Amino acid sequence: MRVLVTGGAGYIGSHAALRLLDDGHEVSVIDDLSRGHLGAVRIFEESGGDRFCFAQASLADREAVERLLRDRRIDTILHFAGIAYVGESVDHPLRYYARNTAATISLLESMAACGVARIIFSSTCATYGEPDPSRIPIAETCPQAPVNPYGRSKYFVEQLLLDHRRAELAAGRSFSMALLRYFNVAGSDVRGRLGEDHRPETHLIPICLEVAAGQRPQIGVFGTDYPTPDGTCLRDYVHVDDLVDAHVAVLGVLRSDAAPAWNIGLGRGISVREVIDACRRVTGHPIPVAEQPRRPGDPPALFADPSRIRADIGWSARCTDLDEIVRSAWRWRCAHPHGYLDCA
Ligand code: UFG
Repeated sequence: MRVLVTGGAGYIGSHAALRLLDDGHEVSVIDDLSRGHLGAVRIFEESGGDRFCFAQASLADREAVERLLRDRRIDTILHFAGIAYVGESVDHPLRYYARNTAATISLLESMAACGVARIIFSSTCATYGEPDPSRIPIAETCPQAPVNPYGRSKYFVEQLLLDHRRAELAAGRSFSMALLRYFNVAGSDVRGRLGEDHRPETHLIPICLEVAAGQRPQIGVFGTDYPTPDGTCLRDYVHVDDLVDAHVAVLGVLRSDAAPAWNIGLGRGISVREVIDACRRVTGHPIPVAEQPRRPGDPPALFADPSRIRADIGWSARCTDLDEIVRSAWRWRCAHPHGYLDCA
């Protein structure tokens, strides 16, 4: 296939781009590098040779996008580009609607102009908002009611993709799409080539590993009075390589006569304290904890019912051991104490 990976220099997009190159596909990456890393692009250049092409541009830059779609004869898009800090989205909602929602409209216009009609969209469990406890584990039929601009910006993309598909089919054109709703993506390439490097870092596992690496004194635990077994929030941690496997599986089944939405998770809720314990086991560091008030907007429990994608296309996560997920992240962190700055 000739695939365009939007946001391919970011955490998840980079893992997908490298996997597609490993599998022998022609891969183009577009990324404005506002949050992605040139260090990841360098790795693709080494492994992909002339099967790889990079454009540093915004998705809203129709000229750049359409040049890439045409010159590289792209047939399929994996659309990861976007921004994903809940707190930032509350403070700067327009930034989220511009870079997640409006940028996707521009991408779809470019696709239509160039006759590209296959797309897999990176959506999120944040589109479910704070589900009624009776709806957890969360199936795809759970009502979507996002509670912050980040979740809404992704929810709107789901809706506009579905509307666009309907119109394309009504006009006699084909349009194939799938919506993948990620739960908590974690870990790093098992071969140690890529990692997770957000600036600022807000995610639980990378912060625990920064503590273990001596770069922070402690981890704050946001809320210990939730109605959960140990009082801390439950999340569904899925290895980034498994998430990429799901995309590869979906690439093989994209069809014009269906527009599936699939949850990508393991189906079990792991508490913040359990994650910290796993990080202690893997790193051998005590990882001191400071109990803190709840972080606004954190639902007590968010974990998937992933049975639909298993039943439909046979995907389920292979890495079910939290320690293994953490170990893969720790390996990259030890080799790159300053993240992608060490790849410059
Ligand atoms: N947490 C802490 N201390 C920290 C960081 C996180 O206690 O320093 C807790 C959070 O409160 C939460 C859990 O660890 O209970 C996981 O937090 P993350 O920030 O790692 O992940 P989230 O569950 O908040 O975020 C994930 C995705 C987002 C998405 C969100 C949807 O990473 O992109 O789910 O709710 F928006």
